[in-house]
Amino acid sequence: MSIKPLRKAVFPVAGLGTRFLPATKQMAKEMLPVVDKPLIQYAVEEARAAGIEQFCFVTGRGKTMLVDQFDVAYELEHVLRERNKTKELEMLHAQALPPGAIVSTRQQVPLGLGHAIWCARSFIGDEPFAILLPDDLMQCDVSCTKQLADAYYATGGNVVAVEEVPREIVNRYGVIAPGATTGNLVEIKGLVEKPKVEEAPSNITVIGRYVLMPEVIGHLSRMERGAGNEIQLTDSMAKLIGAQPFHGVLYEGRRFDCGDKIGYLEAQIAFALKRPEMADAVRGFLKTYT
Ligand code: G1P
Repeated sequence: MSIKPLRKAVFPVAGLGTRFLPATKQMAKEMLPVVDKPLIQYAVEEARAAGIEQFCFVTGRGKTMLVDQFDVAYELEHVLRERNKTKELEMLHAQALPPGAIVSTRQQVPLGLGHAIWCARSFIGDEPFAILLPDDLMQCDVSCTKQLADAYYATGGNVVAVEEVPREIVNRYGVIAPGATTGNLVEIKGLVEKPKVEEAPSNITVIGRYVLMPEVIGHLSRMERGAGNEIQLTDSMAKLIGAQPFHGVLYEGRRFDCGDKIGYLEAQIAFALKRPEMADAVRGFLKTYT
């Protein structure tokens, strides 16, 4: 079997971000900054570091600013040039994507993550693709999506990033039924979306990073409803088990749940502490709160 190169990534960004109101009344939740960079930009940079060349945002009403973020801002660049702000200009240029690298499609109705991915079916075509949920902010030495891409090239099949969590919170996630573990790869024998704690097959959960084979779209097309009466990606992924290789990658790094206020605040601190120009100041003021 020849392994197709992983070139595409889908970013489901249609959610309303109600947990962050009023901040998200006008602004897309994926534009919330951690230190000085919006969540969407961390996700795009992570994907680029994994060799992704084509980006598809699944957006909704009022979320065009997410695509604009990756456009050329002529007026801004003009002013920066006039003021000799070379560093800022260079930063903007380094972040620019090649023309035509981003497309967006709409998820008109919020029917679930599986439905959002199905909305990107024309973009996906018959190629493997990555999915990044920007709410899950990753702090990894090697891009988390790159860790998945390496596992995809090694196994030739579906891979998802997984982590162990305390059992009492497994009901918030997709949970795997694990098979054999080899190094950082766990064979996946089953997948359940948001199971009851007492029914969960393990305490190993799926985080918002995936590399999937295009065949998942066929299963999503059936529009079957699952947990929360939503069309769940997990349910369609589960149907691939047995037909194609399916593994979890115990990724190296840390995940911050930026869909949650505490997780978001923690991310601010953790990312600020990684910045040499502000780490000492942050450590200093943190002491005054303990
Ligand atoms: C989604 C997925 C779930 C996964 C989680 C990771 O859930 O459906 O399987 O574990 O992302 O963040 P959501 O957070 O959208 O409820």
